[in-house]
Amino acid sequence: MTNSIKKVLVTGASNGIGFDLTKKLLAEGAEVIAVTRTGKVGEYSHPNLKVYQGDISNAESIEKVAQQLEEAGIKLDVLVNNAGVGLDLGDEVPTADLLNATFATNTTGTVLFTEALLNSLNDGGQIVFLSTAMALLRNAAPNAPAYRMSKAALNMYAVMLSQRLAERKIRVTPLHPGWVQTRMGGDTAPVTVERSVNGIFKAITENTETGKFWNIELDTLEDY
Ligand SMILES: NC(=O)c1ccc[n+]([C@@H]2O[C@H](COP(=O)([O-])OP(=O)(O)OC[C@H]3O[C@@H](n4cnc5c(N)ncnc54)[C@H](OP(=O)(O)O)[C@@H]3O)[C@@H](O)[C@H]2O)c1
Repeated sequence: MTNSIKKVLVTGASNGIGFDLTKKLLAEGAEVIAVTRTGKVGEYSHPNLKVYQGDISNAESIEKVAQQLEEAGIKLDVLVNNAGVGLDLGDEVPTADLLNATFATNTTGTVLFTEALLNSLNDGGQIVFLSTAMALLRNAAPNAPAYRMSKAALNMYAVMLSQRLAERKIRVTPLHPGWVQTRMGGDTAPVTVERSVNGIFKAITENTETGKFWNIELDTLEDY
């Protein structure tokens, strides 16, 4: 089964997975609204690409993006919450600064951005969250405390939201994109951005479940 992907909004599209996913979606015929902190996607442009400036850790900025969408009368089929930070991946001891900064984007910002866009999402659409297998309880390890906890909280929100949005038939998909060769994942990561993005595209076009965790590396649904 192929799900409709006419209009897609991708956050954090300036780099890494978000940038390549944007290009893949455009190549597959979708219209993409990219949200980046600079309001640009480098020098990249495409007739079906709109770029909005937005910092998802900032409430005013979130409101502005939501308003722009409403004023333009844009209804989304898919919202991809890709923007994220990994500020303490090599640390073991949580600090107030890194907890606050990490949660501000990965959890509070992502949640409030999603809430602000719910009216701009078509019934029957989909919300994707770039989570991580590092946030599954059975994969707990001492490193990356703020990162793991911020994404674990996001997984909980995703399942709660899937229940809230069931009547609107909006599917909610938290996913693990793999350990990917990006600025965050580093050069030694085993998964290319292309493989990850192809997997995310499949999770959008072929996944009919809601509230389930999708693992790109395993190419299937996985228990929390
Ligand atoms: N790479 C991996 O191995 C891996 C594994 C599991 C999960 N993930 C998740 O996948 C997602 C994408 O990661 P990536 O590997 O592509 O990382 P990346 O190359 O560092 O890209 C992160 C993107 O998020 C944007 N961003 C960060 N904070 C933002 C904010 N407050 N508002 C708007 N945009 C913001 C960045 O924008 P700037 O360019 O302005 O900084 C950048 O475009 C993240 O959520 C990450 O947690 C990645």
